[in-house]
Amino acid sequence: MAAPRERADFLRGEIERHNHAYYVLDAPTVPDAEYDRLFRELQALEAEYPELLTSDSPTQRVGGKPLAAFVPVRHAVPMLSIKTETEAGPAGAEAFDARVRKALALSESAPPVEYAAELKFDGLAINLRYEHGALVQAATRGDGETGEDVTQNIRTIQRIPLRLTGNAPAVLEVRGEVYMSRPDFERYNQRQRSLGKPTLVNPRNGAAGSVRQLDPKMAAERPLSFYAYGLGETIGWAVPVSHSSVLDALAAFGLPICEHRVVARGASELIAFHAAILARRDALPFDIDGVVYKVNSLALQAELGFVSREPRWAVAHKYPPQEALTTVEAIQVYVGRTGAITPVARLAPVFVGGVTVTNATLHNEDEVRRKDVRIGDTVIVRRAGDVIPEVVGVLAERRPIMAPEFVMPKRCPVCGSAIERPEDEAIARCTGGLYCPAQRKQALLHFAGRRAMDIEGLGEKLVDQLVDAGLVKTPADLYGLDLQQLAALDRMGEKSAQNLLAGIEKSKGPALGRLIFALGIRNVGETTAKDLARHFGSLEALMAADEARLQQVPDVGPVVAASIAHFFAEAHNRQVIDGLAKVGVRATPLEPVAVDSAISGKAFVLTGTLPTLSREAAKAMIEAKGGKVAGSVSKKTDFVVAGAEAGSKLTKAQELGLIILDEQQFRELLES
Ligand code: IVH
Repeated sequence: MAAPRERADFLRGEIERHNHAYYVLDAPTVPDAEYDRLFRELQALEAEYPELLTSDSPTQRVGGKPLAAFVPVRHAVPMLSIKTETEAGPAGAEAFDARVRKALALSESAPPVEYAAELKFDGLAINLRYEHGALVQAATRGDGETGEDVTQNIRTIQRIPLRLTGNAPAVLEVRGEVYMSRPDFERYNQRQRSLGKPTLVNPRNGAAGSVRQLDPKMAAERPLSFYAYGLGETIGWAVPVSHSSVLDALAAFGLPICEHRVVARGASELIAFHAAILARRDALPFDIDGVVYKVNSLALQAELGFVSREPRWAVAHKYPPQEALTTVEAIQVYVGRTGAITPVARLAPVFVGGVTVTNATLHNEDEVRRKDVRIGDTVIVRRAGDVIPEVVGVLAERRPIMAPEFVMPKRCPVCGSAIERPEDEAIARCTGGLYCPAQRKQALLHFAGRRAMDIEGLGEKLVDQLVDAGLVKTPADLYGLDLQQLAALDRMGEKSAQNLLAGIEKSKGPALGRLIFALGIRNVGETTAKDLARHFGSLEALMAADEARLQQVPDVGPVVAASIAHFFAEAHNRQVIDGLAKVGVRATPLEPVAVDSAISGKAFVLTGTLPTLSREAAKAMIEAKGGKVAGSVSKKTDFVVAGAEAGSKLTKAQELGLIILDEQQFRELLES
C-alpha cells in the first residue's frame, strides 16, 4: 500500500504545483497533455484505492451531488464590510487620511501614515478556511456573522489552491473576492447563446450566482476566479506586522494576490494610486468598482478599531459606476457610412461611466431580438472607457404592459431608399449609397478623420452644413471650397474659414496608406490600408490589381479582395479618385521600410499591459521596423508580446508554441 499512497501524494503535489503556475502565476510549467496524464493517473489510482481519496485531491474539484440547501456557517471572526468614502477624487483620499491621523492623534508634523492600497474587486466575498494546509471550508459572508457553506462550489475554482504550499499554520482563514473575468464572462455567454441557453447579465451576477448554485456541476461550468485580500481566524501562525506583508505571505502559500497594489505614504500617494488605477480600469480583464485603502500596520489597525461594525482603518474609494439603470424612450435606427443600419435606444438621461448617456447602441436587428429590448423597458446600460454605451440587458419584470416588439423599418429614415439585409448577414443596409445624405456625411467625416486625411476643423456640424447646403457631394468637392462659401456658413467666422481652408490644403499630400483608408472601402481598415500601400506602392497599381493579385497581400483574403475590387469597379468611385487627383491630392511616396530589420514582415500580437509601453507605442515601434500588428493569435503569428493580465491570447500562443516575449525581450528584439 505504501507505494500507491506515496504515488498519489506525489501526483497531488505535482498537479497543484502546475495548477498554481498556470492559474495563479499565469506561467504554465508543463504542456496540457502532461498535466492531463498526471491527472488521469491520479484518478485511476483513486478509483483503484478509494481509501486514498482525500477531500483536497485535485480530482475533487469538479462537483459532487446537488445540495438541497446551503448549510449555515458561523464565522470564527466576523466578516465586516468597509465604509465607502463619499468624497470623489483627491478629496476622498484626503478625508480618509485626515480621519486616520485624527484618530491616531498625530500632529501635523508627524510623518505620513503608511497605507496599503489595492483594488476593490466587484464580485462576492468569500472566507476560505485552511486547516494544516488543506482547504476544509468555504463560506459566503452572509450577514457578516453567519454565512453559507459553499465549499463544493468553491472547490471548482482552479485558482483556489486545495492545499497550501510551504509550512502552513494549523488554521489559516483567507478572505477574498470571487469574481468572473470579462473575457471569461464573454466566452461563457457566447457559448450559452450558441446552445440557446440563458446568458449572464454581468460578471458580478455571474460570480454571485455561480457560488450560490446548489448544483456544483453547474457551478463548475462557470469560469470563476479569486483574489485574496485579507485574513480571518489564524491559529499557530506568526501573523506578519503589516497588511502588505500578510498579502506577500498569502502569495507564498500559493494564493492568488492581485499585482495592482502598492504601499502608499500619506494621502498624496493614495491619490496617485487612485488616478493610476482609474487610467487602467478599462484595460483590466475584470471589473472593479474602486480602490481600497487600508492602514498598513496591523498594530495601528488594532489601535484604530471599528465604528458601528466598519473598520476605521479602511475605506473604499469608488469610481463612477460603469453600469446604470434607465428606461428606453424610443428605438431608432442610425445610418452609418457604409449604409449599415444600427438600431439605437434613446434613453432617459443617465449618469454612467462618468458621463450622461442618452443613447446606447443595440448593434443590429438580431441583437435587439435576442435582448428583446422594447420601448418603455427598464434596461441596464454599460459604458466602459471610450467604448460606446450599450444596452446590456432588460429587467423583464419591469416591462410595461403592451410594449411592442422592435421592427426593422423597410425604408431608410434619411433618404427613403429600401433597407435590405442579405440572408447570411447580420447587418441591414440602406441601399441608397452616396445618394443617401447620411452615408455621404459619414463618408466625408471618415475621409477627413484623424487617422485618414486628418483635415483639422472638419467636424460633424460642418459636414452636416456642407452637405445640406449642397456645397459638397464627394470628398473631391472639399478641395474646391472657397473662403466666401465657408464664411457664409452658420457659426463660421472668417478666421475659422481660413483655418479650415489651410487644413484642407495641408491634407493634399497624405501617406498612401492614409489615402487608401480615407476612401472608405468596406472591410479595409487602417492596417489593411497600410499593407496595401506597402505592397502596391501607388494608388494606380492598387486600382489595376485583380482579386488574385490582391490576395497576395498578407492578411487579405477573398472577402477583403472582393470588397476592394468591387469598390474600384464602381464608376462613381473612380470619378471621386479622378476628382481628387485633379484638385491636386497626391499620396507622398512611401517611406522606405527598414528591410534589413530583424522583424520586417513579421506578425506580432500584443496582449496584456506592458510595464512601460502603451499598446500604441509598441505598435508604432513594430511598424517603424516593418513589422505588423494583428489583433488575434494564429499559426501565422511570429511573436506574441505579453504583459500583465494577459488572457486568452497568451494561452492560445502557448498552445500553439509561439514565441512569447516580455517587454524587455521585445525591446532587445527591436534593437537586434
Ligand atoms: S477588505 C474589514 N479589500 O468590498 C475589511 N474588501 O465592504 C473587509 N472587496 O464585500 C474588506 N475588494 O468583498 C476588502 N481589496 C478589498 C476588496 C474588498 C472588494 C469587497 C468585499 C466586501 C466589500 C467591503
